[in-house]
Amino acid sequence: MQCQLITGGAGFIGSCYVLRARRAGVRVINLDKLTYSGNMENLASLSGDKDHIFIQGDIGNAELVRHLLDVWKPDAIVNFAAESHVDRSIIDPDAFVRSNVLGTCSLLRTTKDWWLTLSKQEQARFRFLHISTDEVFGALRPGDPAFTETTPYSPNSPYSASKAASDHFVRAFHETYGLPILITNCSNNYGPRQFPEKLIPLVMLNALAGKPLPVYGTGENIRDWLHVEDHCAAIELVLKTGRTGENYNIGGQSERANIEVVRAICAILDELAPAETGKHADAIRFVADRPGHDFRYAVDCSKLTRELGWKAAYRFEDGLLETIKWYLANPDWVKNVQTGAYRRWIQANYASRSRA
Ligand code: NAD
Ligand code: DAU
Repeated sequence: MQCQLITGGAGFIGSCYVLRARRAGVRVINLDKLTYSGNMENLASLSGDKDHIFIQGDIGNAELVRHLLDVWKPDAIVNFAAESHVDRSIIDPDAFVRSNVLGTCSLLRTTKDWWLTLSKQEQARFRFLHISTDEVFGALRPGDPAFTETTPYSPNSPYSASKAASDHFVRAFHETYGLPILITNCSNNYGPRQFPEKLIPLVMLNALAGKPLPVYGTGENIRDWLHVEDHCAAIELVLKTGRTGENYNIGGQSERANIEVVRAICAILDELAPAETGKHADAIRFVADRPGHDFRYAVDCSKLTRELGWKAAYRFEDGLLETIKWYLANPDWVKNVQTGAYRRWIQANYASRSRA
């Protein structure tokens, strides 16, 4: 039976990947620290599954990671674990250095030491796949060509700087020690189970609660949206057939200005859950911009398509509708993530944003 050590497997994208891996018959060792965004409810359907082994712990805990590697001898490690929210990185960059940079470096070092104990055949079969982001490439202007795998790194936020640093360490472990690594750089994900600090679930849940819908700056900033299932399908393909030492861009080819996305959410909710008075879009408020706000991301994923045959299955508008329906159908999940800690974050991030 194939076995993978998946880190950050209780988060938004990691849990989607874990559920798919179990459906594919892969034994999953799921190492997650359960920070504010890690949520065991994302994995509720695996309750009682003896081939989903969950361990609460930090990727930086070398002793624990070595123990897991010795006991389970995974065929691959897929590293999703990270602090993932740009706005939080502006308020507390140190947490991003700890998990994303030091944590990844420690995970790499422990993996490399263990990997060196394997037979040559086992070494050749093993893969370390690191999940990264398009944000490491910096910001595009309107009309600029999309990011390719050779676009120079130019991170602008503490979050993207920490992800860029981790990517460099991953690459360095390949060049220096020969560790068979792969890196994927993906655009903005959306879909079920995304923690509601990110634009799409935040706007949707604020609208349902009759709260203002905060749009940073002018709302013209552009993101390239990809459904989380399409992202995970691409990761599976890269793990199976990608060339080691390479990085692969993953993108949705669905560039949208933020204000368009917010209006699309409002239009869907006007149908599915109308506001008591007026239209949901009446609650849109332009608020103070994110400092250092990257204007535009766009991902050229032609290498992934050309070399590995990947293609996104979801159209953004269909995926958005399906996502909104998922949140409407799962009020308990929503209620349980909107705890005191969530409310404190909303206060910290939005209270001081005067109108732009
Ligand atoms: P998330 O915040 O929902 O999940 C992160 C998970 O990692 C959580 O379960 C958390 O508990 C865990 N974690 C954090 N620090 C840890 C540590 N030190 N040790 C063990 N576990 C730890 O994030 P997400 O949106 O699912 O993102 C997952 C990965 O994908 C991240 O590496 C992120 O940079 C990358 N990514 C995200 C997007 C996106 O749009 N969300 C796009 C491209 C890449
Ligand atoms: O591009 C990939 C990245 O996408 C991932 O690496 C990150 O982990 C992920 O969080 C995401 O980063 P963004 O900063 O693009 O996502 P976020 O949902 O925070 O914001 C999307 C856009 O919406 C961005 O331009 C900022 C804007 N925004 C966001 C929030 C939370 C608003 O206008 N209002 C808001 O309240």
